[in-house]
Amino acid sequence: MSVERILDTRLHQRIVSAETAAAMIQPGETVAMSGFTGSGYPKAVPLALAQRIEAAHLANQPFQIKLMTGASTAPELDGALAKAEGIALRMPFQTDPDARNRINAGTLDYIDIHLSHVAQHVWFGFYGEIDTAVVEVSAIREDGALVPSTSVGNNKTWLDLAKKVIIEVNEWQPSAIEGMHDVYYGTARPPHRKPIPLEHGDDRIGQTTLRCDPDKIVAVVRTNGPDRNSPFSPADENSRLIAGHLIEFFKHEVARGRLPANLLPLQSGVGNIPNAVLAGLADSGFRDLEAFTEVIQDGMLDLLKSGVLRYASCTGFALSPAANEEFKRDIDFYRQRIVMRTQEISNHPELVRRLGCIGMNGMIEADLYGNVNSTHVMGTRIMNGIGGSGDFARNGFLSTFLSPSTAKNGTISAIVPMVSHVDHTEHDVAIIVTEQGLADLRGLSPKQRARVVIDQCVHPDFRPQLEDYFDRACHHSYGKHTPHLLPEALSWHQRWLDTGSMRA
Ligand code: COA
Repeated sequence: MSVERILDTRLHQRIVSAETAAAMIQPGETVAMSGFTGSGYPKAVPLALAQRIEAAHLANQPFQIKLMTGASTAPELDGALAKAEGIALRMPFQTDPDARNRINAGTLDYIDIHLSHVAQHVWFGFYGEIDTAVVEVSAIREDGALVPSTSVGNNKTWLDLAKKVIIEVNEWQPSAIEGMHDVYYGTARPPHRKPIPLEHGDDRIGQTTLRCDPDKIVAVVRTNGPDRNSPFSPADENSRLIAGHLIEFFKHEVARGRLPANLLPLQSGVGNIPNAVLAGLADSGFRDLEAFTEVIQDGMLDLLKSGVLRYASCTGFALSPAANEEFKRDIDFYRQRIVMRTQEISNHPELVRRLGCIGMNGMIEADLYGNVNSTHVMGTRIMNGIGGSGDFARNGFLSTFLSPSTAKNGTISAIVPMVSHVDHTEHDVAIIVTEQGLADLRGLSPKQRARVVIDQCVHPDFRPQLEDYFDRACHHSYGKHTPHLLPEALSWHQRWLDTGSMRA
């Protein structure tokens, strides 16, 4: 590997192997790494660190770190460190199965917070000091400026605050990505905050590179490896139906004059249902759409290519291998239409409110009154985390939550009397969509919401049970504003656990 991506010659003498760099991380450290939904995470140092941790454990020496990132990463990072029992505390979002098992076994502490909050909570000192930052970049310029790779996440904060910095320069990342990023350095702590001068989702208000004090850079590691990019499975029938209901609703809102003809900036969660919505938008007749979102996935590249989407603002990518090839092939086209920001800006509550974003996110379950559980299966077992869904649900113009009406081969209803865990309250949820239909909860009282949810979203197999529950609750509930029969409401999930539905 050449050093042509490392143009700051002061750093040449700090080029080392991943093993040497990992040896600079000590047990007990708080380590902040790059990475957001499987893009732009360091590929080599975490693996070398995991090996070091395993060796320490074999020698009966304790070795764990506290690990922060932008969001989820990949098997080479979360997976390797979790398998090595090397993580004492993880935040703010992760999706790795090995880490998830340890979190749910109670052996790995996890702090799941809104993605827009992470940087500022670290600035405020809520999580203590950052000992080491490990950040992937695509190049280092002559003057030491760092060209980000496929995610920006919290990298600005990590580089600003860490006591020492390890940089991975990944030659797999396209060097032509330079210019796509917009890193805003104008944020401050209260009471010195100023309005963020972003008026349109595609405005550029910052610089294309990250700053880092070169004296803090203790190691530079050269890598050449791909981002985690799993193929998308084709949309199933339920996803297509959900997408169809939502797009029909958008058209209805345009006809009623409540949305402009090109809608409002879209935020889309990752996964097959959001991808089906994006695919549906491609054939829907909408033009000049905008995206102010966290992650660009395959469907958004297609929309940009066809001109249906005018631009996309994001902080990271989640692309299949085929979409990644397409992105690299036509990067000059995408650089004109994609702006990559820090996650404190991509998810900023004030910007999401002012731009009027339309949030489209998945959920585990919703209840009759519109409370949504995005994170905990059966109320106690965490799946992933809240991610950015709360940033967009609470602050957007419209918050929509999408899910099939049943889970586990139809044995469990995704609509329940009372959610077993609350991430988004009834006050933040506007629209619930299942393959059965769409419930518009805006302007409705709790009892009116329950009727609409039962009529529109519940699977026919569960509708009689929920109707019966709601009718009895309306008669016998202690208070009649939000009627509930508490012991019965809370027994639904236990019943599924007892009957073994969770193994289906
Ligand atoms: N009851 C019990 N289990 C349920 C369930 C329910 N109501 N709904 C889903 N599950 C289970 C599924 O069976 C599956 O289990 P498995 O892993 O054992 O197969 C698991 O939960 C995931 O369900 P799936 O349908 O594959 O999920 P998805 O890919 O559509 O994602 C969320 C749904 C809610 C997990 C996902 O959207 C998420 O993590 N959301 C929170 C973060 C977020 O919104 N980010 C947005 C910005 S990127």
